[in-house]
Amino acid sequence: MSKITAAITGVSGYVPDYVLTNKELETMVETNDEWITSRTGIKERRILKGEGQGTSHIAVPAVKELLKKTNTKPEEIDLLICATTTPDMVFPATANLITAEVGAVNAFGYDLQAACSGFLFALATGSKFIESGQYKKVVVVGADKMSSIVDYTDRATCIIFGDGGGAVMLEPNTEGFGIQDSILKSDGTGAPFLHMKAGGSRKPATIETVQAREHYAFQEGQQVFKFAVKGMADVSAEIMERNHLTGEDVAWLVPHQANKRIIEATANRMGLDNEKVMLNIHKYGNTTSGTIPLCLWEYENQLKKGDNLILAAFGGGFTWGAIYLKWAYDPK
Ligand SMILES: CC(C)(COP(=O)(O)OP(=O)(O)OC[C@H]1O[C@@H](n2cnc3c(N)ncnc32)[C@H](O)[C@@H]1OP(=O)(O)O)[C@@H](O)C(=O)NCCC(=O)NCCS
Repeated sequence: MSKITAAITGVSGYVPDYVLTNKELETMVETNDEWITSRTGIKERRILKGEGQGTSHIAVPAVKELLKKTNTKPEEIDLLICATTTPDMVFPATANLITAEVGAVNAFGYDLQAACSGFLFALATGSKFIESGQYKKVVVVGADKMSSIVDYTDRATCIIFGDGGGAVMLEPNTEGFGIQDSILKSDGTGAPFLHMKAGGSRKPATIETVQAREHYAFQEGQQVFKFAVKGMADVSAEIMERNHLTGEDVAWLVPHQANKRIIEATANRMGLDNEKVMLNIHKYGNTTSGTIPLCLWEYENQLKKGDNLILAAFGGGFTWGAIYLKWAYDPK
């Protein structure tokens, strides 16, 4: 019997309508379009507005689009994994809210929290359920409403993040397409550089924690930058090396969109020209778990069956990793 691999058979995305431009940020904090553009590559990001709107309100339209595109009935989904750092609630899992909303009555689901590497970790995890032969249709979602944890008085962080997300369908493939290899890493000694100080079990919410603005993402940008440049480039180079791939063999780098300079450093190390690098950071900023599925969604029409893709990410914690996959279908 031929080996089962987990192939992406469809991709979808969703971004909210509201566009927060660098110009508008200039009215909120001491910053300017030139600084943001040259330091990060970001021009604008999307924000989910409205009372009672959470990450599931980004994920649900994405999953509905995915089901439509892949001709899948909601009850056919076996498993839905939602990578997110901004769940609708501490519990239940956002995956449960999504499955209920889309009518995936036969699916089990759970959330996976690995900050900006969340989608990558969830994709690797979901693929194992397919490779084992246990499940046939696994939906992997990456979505975040970062505006819910961003301090819009902190100019060093509020310029970076935005809201958005996407989803992919994983199905068994016996022709060798799909996920080939993954390298996933975590190092908790990186926690001090990117974390949220309060709201967890260590420091539950109190009036004092709110007044001290401790429910927002705290970041030491330069430390994260240094780590990210090395971490993302190292794993990307390593996964190429151990799969005997040169820059010429790789059709696309699909990098986490946190800072254009970090993406360029990674592409350089891999020996890739800029035109092989998926980029939408200028439009959406860093949507945390959302960046990689949003890239795949936007570039889907340019992907050909058999293309070698390297997905690479890093995030708070620290977490980082890379996935090598063979794209499984031509543009439809
Ligand atoms: C946050 C980040 C853009 C800051 O860029 P940087 O080049 O490292 O800038 P620095 O932090 O060294 O700050 C340089 C100066 O710009 C200032 N500055 C910071 N944010 C600014 C802003 N939005 N507008 C204008 N000036 C700003 C700083 O106060 C500092 O001023 P000083 O020299 O007078 O002290 C960058 O560090 C970064 O991208 N880090 C990685 C973040 C990331 O990827 N996070 C997501 C992880 S998944």
